Amino acid sequence: MKSTPKVIDSNILNRKSHFSFSQNPVEEEHLLLLFEAARFAPSSFNAQPWRYIYARKNDADYPKLLNLLAESNKVWASSAPILILSFAQVFDLKNNRANRFAFHDLGLSTANLLAQATSLGLATHPMGGYDVERAKEVFRIPEGFEPGAMIALGYPGDSSTLAEDLQKRNNAPRMRKELSETVFKGSWKAE
Ligand SMILES: Cc1cc2nc3c(=O)[nH]c(=O)nc-3n(C[C@H](O)[C@H](O)[C@H](O)COP(=O)(O)O)c2cc1C
Repeated sequence: MKSTPKVIDSNILNRKSHFSFSQNPVEEEHLLLLFEAARFAPSSFNAQPWRYIYARKNDADYPKLLNLLAESNKVWASSAPILILSFAQVFDLKNNRANRFAFHDLGLSTANLLAQATSLGLATHPMGGYDVERAKEVFRIPEGFEPGAMIALGYPGDSSTLAEDLQKRNNAPRMRKELSETVFKGSWKAE
């Protein structure tokens, strides 16, 4: 029998939200692998409610994505060679049915994408700081779909060229709650 690994998967452990990106382009086949990884996520009733719109820096649609971002994100995300906007199908109009797991399953799919990116040496950074309503207008998102996170993607850049505050955020230790605060055996732990 295989022994249990003593460390969590390196693509989970080594992923972090990057603030600087190299201008080296992301190979098309690598980008496709990320979306293939996202595609293989589990989903409630196998509904696969995730959708992704992406643009490369030299595409006409890139500024549409970039300009949705809050200034605090735009300042560093504008160096990302690729921006991706994710969506969840929260309501199926054909069957008149809401999917209460749509964002859950979009998250699973995006987590796969981020892990696959990490395994390929790519840098990622998910963002919620953007104008959600304008995103729906700009991209004419059909009814029943809601935007999820925007993701900055590229190869890691030289963080020493970042402004001091961003360097600090980029190099900060990754803080997490203790397991005892988030995992309860048998019953809900009272605060
Ligand atoms: C849905 C979502 C929205 C986020 N929004 C932003 C954002 O708008 N700006 C930002 O700098 N980071 C954003 N983040 C990144 C988080 O701040 C980051 O994941 C968290 O601090 C943990 O750090 P780590 O990703 O390096 O482990 C977001 C992450 C997620 C998953």
